Amino acid sequence: MKRFENKVCLVTGASSGIGRATALSFAEEGAKVVVADINETTGIEVVNEINSTGGEAIFVKCNIGERQDIVNLITTTVDTFGRLDCAVNCAGIAGKVSKPVHEYPEEDWLLQIQINLIGTWYCVKFQLEQMLKQGGGTIVCVSSAAGLVGQPENSPYAASKHGVNGLVKSAAIEYATKNIRVNAICPTAIETPMIMQGRRKLAENPEALQQAINFQRMKRMGQPQEVADVALWLSSEQSSFITGHTMAVDGGAFA
Ligand SMILES: NC(=O)c1ccc[n+]([C@@H]2O[C@H](COP(=O)([O-])OP(=O)(O)OC[C@H]3O[C@@H](n4cnc5c(N)ncnc54)[C@H](O)[C@@H]3O)[C@@H](O)[C@H]2O)c1
Repeated sequence: MKRFENKVCLVTGASSGIGRATALSFAEEGAKVVVADINETTGIEVVNEINSTGGEAIFVKCNIGERQDIVNLITTTVDTFGRLDCAVNCAGIAGKVSKPVHEYPEEDWLLQIQINLIGTWYCVKFQLEQMLKQGGGTIVCVSSAAGLVGQPENSPYAASKHGVNGLVKSAAIEYATKNIRVNAICPTAIETPMIMQGRRKLAENPEALQQAINFQRMKRMGQPQEVADVALWLSSEQSSFITGHTMAVDGGAFA
């Protein structure tokens, strides 16, 4: 039997990068998958890939920073598949600029908090509500290494991800006796569009790219699948005694 047979698994940010790899992996392991993202075109591609290879998936368009979108996401999940067993909250944004705190554009600061922290909170809040009704479930939030240590010139991102880790640890304690486990994953550099085309434009900046590679003791970036594998493990029975972790996936960076 596959690990997620008869399970309903929801992934936000599932149109790209880590979320996409996670959604495809859940499908391969037998889950019914809810692909949620603000990007409809690539999200539908992920759904088509799953459904054309014998899996079962739906796409739900949402902006995680909008409360009503998340209410709708959970309602659609339950209306379609009857329950929600595993949620992996991957959707997030990076800053567009590198600036010290006193110079950081205010609008961009607020946006990162709105999406990465408040948006993740909406997801966790309404996922918990459903899991309480049905008697259990697992939640994994894709935070960041910037949720464990400070990141110069990237303060709103680091603040938002520290916030996610605080949310995860608090929720883990609150629901520990309710058969709901809540964990976070804190990756360092993972080769996805966010990092290659983001703030430091690694795709076109060989020096910054080398720096990003060197940060890991393994002297390479991680691949989305290597984070997806951890997300699935934390969502599975194999991690049944683990809750409240903020697990670095870091190629030895924090060793
Ligand atoms: N790539 C890295 O090096 C790295 C490192 C640490 C943490 N992370 C975190 O991993 C998560 C996934 O990032 P990724 O690297 O796969 O990036 P990505 O850009 O490839 O994927 C992010 C996905 O989130 C979606 N998204 C963005 N804003 C959204 C919103 N408001 N509502 C719904 N969907 C939204 C995007 O459309 C995209 O499909 C993010 O939370 C990111 O902060 C990434």
